[in-house]
Amino acid sequence: MKDQLQKIYDEAQEMLAQAKNLEDIENIKLKYLSRKGELNSIKKNLKNLSDEDKKVVGAFANEVANNLENSVKEKYDIFYKQELDEKLKKEKIDVTLSGKYIPRGHVHPVTDTINEITEIFHALGFSLTTDENSPEVETEYFNFDMLNFPKDHPAKDMQDTFYTKTAPHVLLRSQTSGSQVRTMESMKLPIRVIDPGRVYRNENINSRKNNFFHQIEGLYVDKGVTFADLKGVLTEFLRIYFGSSRPTRFRSSYFPFTEPSVEIDVQCIMCHGKGCRTCSGTGWLEILGAGMVDVNVLKNCNIDPEVYSGFAFGMGVERLSMLKYAIDDIRLYFNNDQRFLEQF
Ligand code: PHE
Repeated sequence: MKDQLQKIYDEAQEMLAQAKNLEDIENIKLKYLSRKGELNSIKKNLKNLSDEDKKVVGAFANEVANNLENSVKEKYDIFYKQELDEKLKKEKIDVTLSGKYIPRGHVHPVTDTINEITEIFHALGFSLTTDENSPEVETEYFNFDMLNFPKDHPAKDMQDTFYTKTAPHVLLRSQTSGSQVRTMESMKLPIRVIDPGRVYRNENINSRKNNFFHQIEGLYVDKGVTFADLKGVLTEFLRIYFGSSRPTRFRSSYFPFTEPSVEIDVQCIMCHGKGCRTCSGTGWLEILGAGMVDVNVLKNCNIDPEVYSGFAFGMGVERLSMLKYAIDDIRLYFNNDQRFLEQF
């Protein structure tokens, strides 16, 4: 047994001599000195020896263990110091070097407008619908069919809407209104949500039109919701967003998914209603479509129109921002010119 111990000791010393780093040392500790290590497994056999031998071999085993522990510690300290020195050298910082100017960015004006409008509707009792209810890559089913669009409606045409090539009936949504349907199908009544997001249209790009922009959809469905609620909520929104001195008007309109429908115009900020290039001489700019949720849409979503009613609205985010800050070209929001963005 003594021989065995001596052999282990020699072997361990040999490995220590060859160790190159802290990790090697840890492995040696594990192999020889840990509870399940080789020294301990030999010590366990001591009980089979005579009392006389036990004393001698036991004392030797302890000596071997102590010696080995000391050598391991010695080596460990050397490597520890070495690795620490290396690390310190590598991570040295010269605190006397002059600093670098890192310009601070800020929120994009589109995001900023969305945040501002979201806060206003929060205060009016609206929360956000879920992201799952608002995919940008949408199906014809949610973007048009469930919203009561007739099969041959011109908006469904490829001239107006971007269809994907990967699958039939899959498109880039042309409006956020599809989220109305998804929300009514997935959330419990009453529903009072808004949904900001990006939409895509196959447009000729000019100062007032881009082929993608942002909308904020709104939906309120409960028992006894009337057109007076629609008018009250949207008038209050306009008052908070534009201030009470900006003239606005409700104009009757048509959407397949609302009945009756309205559009809201805001007086042109460029000419203050006199008529100019921006407002095509009318003095007004359309910013929002709205109406009472069509009975057919409620039915499509399995909501009983005899019990529930609701209103919906959708507004153009860039339009709202343009009309607040007197910006006359929508393309400025998308070409990332710092001279423009810095002003916000
Ligand atoms: N989705 C319509 C549009 O893009 C706006 C709208 C939303 C109208 C909700 C009525 C109700 O023009």
